[in-house]
Amino acid sequence: LRSVNGTLTVDLASSPQQVTIAGRDVRALSYNGGVPGPTLRIRAGDTLSVSLRNGLADPSNLHVHGLHVSPENNSDNMFVTVAAGDSFDYQYELPANHPPGVYWYHPHHHGFAADQVFGGLYGAIIVEDPDPIPASRERVLVISDITLDSIGTIPAATSMEKMSGREGDLVLVNGQLSPSMTARPGEQERWRIINACVSRYLRLRLDGQQMSLLGIDSGRFEAARDVDEVVLAPGNRADLIVTGIAGTSVLRAHTYDRGMSGGMMMGRGSSTAAADIALATLTVAGDTIATVAAIPGQPVPRDLRTATVTARREFIFAMGMGGNMGGGMMSATINGQVFDATRIDTTVQFDSVEDWLLTNTSRLDHPMHLHVWPMQIIEQSGQPVKTIMWQDVVNIPARSTVRVRIAFDDFSGRTVYHCHILDHEDSGMMGVITAN
Ligand code: C2O
Ligand code: CU
Ligand code: CU
Repeated sequence: LRSVNGTLTVDLASSPQQVTIAGRDVRALSYNGGVPGPTLRIRAGDTLSVSLRNGLADPSNLHVHGLHVSPENNSDNMFVTVAAGDSFDYQYELPANHPPGVYWYHPHHHGFAADQVFGGLYGAIIVEDPDPIPASRERVLVISDITLDSIGTIPAATSMEKMSGREGDLVLVNGQLSPSMTARPGEQERWRIINACVSRYLRLRLDGQQMSLLGIDSGRFEAARDVDEVVLAPGNRADLIVTGIAGTSVLRAHTYDRGMSGGMMMGRGSSTAAADIALATLTVAGDTIATVAAIPGQPVPRDLRTATVTARREFIFAMGMGGNMGGGMMSATINGQVFDATRIDTTVQFDSVEDWLLTNTSRLDHPMHLHVWPMQIIEQSGQPVKTIMWQDVVNIPARSTVRVRIAFDDFSGRTVYHCHILDHEDSGMMGVITAN
């Protein structure tokens, strides 16, 4: 990692490594030998240069999830393949007004994304605040899940797991099982939480402590909100202030039913609905710290509810069995089609605002993700959303609709939208979009 004049240069090698996960020697995939990979810290206006060396036996590439950067050339280009043994130099130029917040990186080669992320390839990107938010300490918590067999390798996903979306037996925080943290009463900590799980939803609670939510993804509230829980679909991030209250609290992932409780899809990899999971312990003890400065207000977020909409579209997320895929394989489609890199599904006009109705006809939730341009949630199940929420992953609950608006500004080019249950993405629940 090297930082010079607004440029961060990272040499990122992906390779299979012997790493320690949950106290065991595990053969996993890693960036630069660690799970997660290094945290990259940048600012609006910076250029992030990453040279990716693919030491895997399969093709890979790199995606900077949530960053508002060009999808063309050697920026966040989804159509780049970095073959086994090859290298590629990425260069991401952040606009001067890029929103601060929590972002992340992971591989995105179609057909390999779920296996490679589940294998250990992910890391955090922090875009620093222009005016720092007072906090005595900052923690980056990358939450992922993994399944290990008796010899410390990751078993291949079954076709059932691919259909429902694989969930690991172990839920890790920064590659560790149930880590312990300490703080002092009154201490205000900044927690940056990333849901890097392939399919698992996280309904996070930290009972006994005070949590204030600054925002989700690239979105920020004008004023931080006190919350009891935060729900993160795969790919979502939370930016939180945790104020310590004396005692011991457990960060837990509470049960979340994403449509798995119906029985048919139970079995290994369907534990979301089964029980609460303890992720980490926070012990708050010692002398009370005099209260840190108040959390400053944030700029009023842009509101597209009154914008001039130039196109309205509908996207239908559907799952079905069989068809021409045979052998009990499922199909996962958007508007009836599976992903084809040579087809363009959606053409939008650069600098226009569009209104998209996202419909989920299946019995599982689908977290919809669009690259490059964030989405403002307008309606949930037909009901207007009162708060301005900008997100890059928007959950569409089973048999439900969500309406979003998108401003296709700053960048033109070709990229993708997809379900962020990466098993569904690899099965074809992804479309190609160009803005021109
Ligand atoms: Cu986090 Cu297209 O992905
Ligand atoms: Cu992404
Ligand atoms: Cu899905």
